[in-house]
Amino acid sequence: MEGFGAGKVILLGEHSVVYGHPALAGPLSYGVTARAVPAKRCQLSLPGTLSRPQRALLTRAFQRVATLCGEPGVKVTLESELPLSMGLGSSGALAVASTRVLLKAAGRDDSPQEVARLALEMEQEFHGTPSGVDHTTSALEKLLLYKRTPGQSTGRLKVLKSPRPLKVLVALVGDRSPTKHTVGALRERQARWPERYTRLFKQIGTLAAEGAKAVEDGDLEALGDAMNVNQGLLAALGLSSPQLEDMVYRLRGLGALGAKLTGAGGDGGAVIGLFLEPEPAVKKLLDDGVRCFSSQLAGPRAL
Ligand code: MEV
Repeated sequence: MEGFGAGKVILLGEHSVVYGHPALAGPLSYGVTARAVPAKRCQLSLPGTLSRPQRALLTRAFQRVATLCGEPGVKVTLESELPLSMGLGSSGALAVASTRVLLKAAGRDDSPQEVARLALEMEQEFHGTPSGVDHTTSALEKLLLYKRTPGQSTGRLKVLKSPRPLKVLVALVGDRSPTKHTVGALRERQARWPERYTRLFKQIGTLAAEGAKAVEDGDLEALGDAMNVNQGLLAALGLSSPQLEDMVYRLRGLGALGAKLTGAGGDGGAVIGLFLEPEPAVKKLLDDGVRCFSSQLAGPRAL
């Protein structure tokens, strides 16, 4: 028995989504797969390569969801195609994959909405009070305009239809930046200069709403422009780095309609470029030794 949790990219609106502004996010075709086999008691089997604190955290998070699912008699193993703490929603995908397989094993409702509702328990163990955009996008596997309900890790969402294929190139840059740290450091700056930061968050939220309209209108040039402006505002918020900026400019130089960091940002992480056809740029970057891949987030697929 298997459960899949998709990774995600945020096209517009990371961080400001934490403060109640909309974000535009879509699922990657890569993610985490959880596999369950019958066992005497409900347990998570982890690879020996993990550190003791990592094992403790994962076991605690798994146990929270296992209890909610009625502790079905299965042993669960996890396989991830996503790098950890690089802005691609690996923890949300892990939570969704585990929850999905546990609900299936228990013979319970495993609809995307129910998976999202329970996977939140695991996400909270990892991140405290996330906006909820990561695990919701992972569970629903749709392009979403998501707006957090104040103080909660759930929100209102609109599923967007794209008349055109929405393809991104994802490039990995530098070292991992744990989301908790970047979100926490930004919160300190925001608490110190609330008016200035609130102004920027609002502007980013407006870009996300404009980007959602551009998607529905099939105006990828307008979406790309919104991504470029969003990148400028993320840098203004102190969330970018020289390495991330270099990659942003590299992707634009390779023909991206728009390029920006995605996820938490920080010293390293992921950069996305919106491309009509990403493959030539993927090939060029792979030849240059850059870790990258392409994924279609929404829209009609080639037959
Ligand atoms: C992380 O993928 C997205 C952030 O906006 C955090 C969150 O939404 O909880 C940085």
